[in-house]
Amino acid sequence: MNKQLRKAIIAGNWKMNKTRPEAKALIEDLKPVAANATCEVVICVPFTNLETAVALTEGTNIKVGAENVHFEKSGAFTGEISADMLTEIGVEYVIIGHSERRQYFGETDETVNKRTKAALAAGLKPIVCVGELLWERECDITEEVIARQIKLDFFGVSAEDLKKSVIAYEPVWAIGTGKTATSEQAQEVCAFIRATLAKLYDQDTANAVTIQYGGSMNPKNAEELLAQPDVDGGLIGGASLKAADFGVLLDAATNG
Ligand code: 13P
Repeated sequence: MNKQLRKAIIAGNWKMNKTRPEAKALIEDLKPVAANATCEVVICVPFTNLETAVALTEGTNIKVGAENVHFEKSGAFTGEISADMLTEIGVEYVIIGHSERRQYFGETDETVNKRTKAALAAGLKPIVCVGELLWERECDITEEVIARQIKLDFFGVSAEDLKKSVIAYEPVWAIGTGKTATSEQAQEVCAFIRATLAKLYDQDTANAVTIQYGGSMNPKNAEELLAQPDVDGGLIGGASLKAADFGVLLDAATNG
C-alpha cells in the first residue's frame, strides 16, 4: 500500500458468530494483540454485541463497526437498525453490501447506495463491499462488474464523503472458501477500483480512499496481499474470530 497517502485498515467481520460471553472473551484477547498496531483496527460485530464491544474497547485502539444499516431514519421497517441508532451507541464503521447480503437478503446496488448515503449523513464510515462471482470472472467481465458496482454504489456521493468511505474488494468465489485471490489478482482489481474512482472523481480523491481486500485472508497469505501498492488493508471473516490469527494480520499491515 502507499503509506504516504493512506492508513491501512484491518477490519474483522464476525458475521453471525459469537454470543455475548464469547464476544467478551474474544475482545479481551484482542486488546493486547491490537495494542501496538499502527494500522486502524476495526471489529464489525453482530447488532447484539455492539454495546458490549463499544464498552469493552473504550480507551483502546479498537474501533467498532456494525454489519449492516438501514437507509431510513425511523419507521415501519421491522428488524432493521438506523444509522442514528448506531452512532448513538458509539459505533464508527458499518459494512454495507456484503456479498452475503446481496446473495441471501436481496441487497441491490440501489439499496447499497441508499445505505451508504444514510451512513455517511449520520457520520458513520461505510465499508462498501464489491466483488465478482466466479462465473463473472470466468466470462472475463470482472472489470465491468466492479465498475458498475462502484458507479451505482457511490452514485451521488460527494468527493468529501468518498474520502471517508472504505471500499472492500471481496471476490465472491474467495469468501469462506479457502480460495484466496493471488496477490496479483487482488492488486489488479484494487488498482482498477482506484482508476475508476479517479475517472469518476479525480486522482487525489481516488488516492485518499482505503481499498481493502477480503476473501480467505489468513496469517499465511496476508503479508503478500498487504504488500501490494493498492491493497490498503483487509476485511477478514474467519481469521478475525481467533485473536492470534487476527494479530498476525495486524502485524502484516503494520509492517507491510
Ligand atoms: P473469509 O475471510 O472467512 O473468507 O470472509 C471474508 C469476508 O467475507 C469478510 O467480509
